[in-house]
Amino acid sequence: MMFGKLFAFAASAALALAAPASFIPIADDIILWSADIQSPNVFSVWPVGSTQTIKWDPSQVPQTAANHTGIVLLGYYEDDSENLDTQTPLVAGFQIADGQVDITVPNVTERNDYIVVLFGNSGNASPTFTIKQ
Ligand SMILES: *[C@@H]1O[C@H](CO)[C@@H](O)[C@H](O)[C@H]1NC(C)=O
Ligand SMILES: *[C@@H]1O[C@H](CO)[C@@H](O)[C@H](O)[C@H]1NC(C)=O
Repeated sequence: MMFGKLFAFAASAALALAAPASFIPIADDIILWSADIQSPNVFSVWPVGSTQTIKWDPSQVPQTAANHTGIVLLGYYEDDSENLDTQTPLVAGFQIADGQVDITVPNVTERNDYIVVLFGNSGNASPTFTIKQ
């Protein structure tokens, strides 16, 4: 599932919201990348406080992004728009080329329409999944 809005991520860890449906370069080494998130998926149920692994296909990461670090945000859908917690990333600073990263599920409200969005520099949303108390 493609993320509806384009987000940008700079190596400085600064997150910038970009205008929808247009690419706004924020760095010389911007990469366009849309690897699918394989986990979580629609069957995932994550208990609060548990450790979970977010996975994507590292073979889809372009060579130019081989050494890029990533950031993962938690969000959910509401009124057909994505609400992303940009203040508290689930995890940051991991190697995108690794294809996976472990996170601890924060104590958030129980919902069945959570998503995680993986940023190289453009955001890729996972399928919706559940976090339960
Ligand atoms: C990634 O880092 C390795 C080791 O430092 C280096 O050899 C390689 O050229 C780098 N790749 C890119 C695309 O920057
Ligand atoms: C999550 O937060 C709620 C409300 O503060 C609390 O009642 C609950 O015990 C917390 N759950 C965990 C697993 O920390």
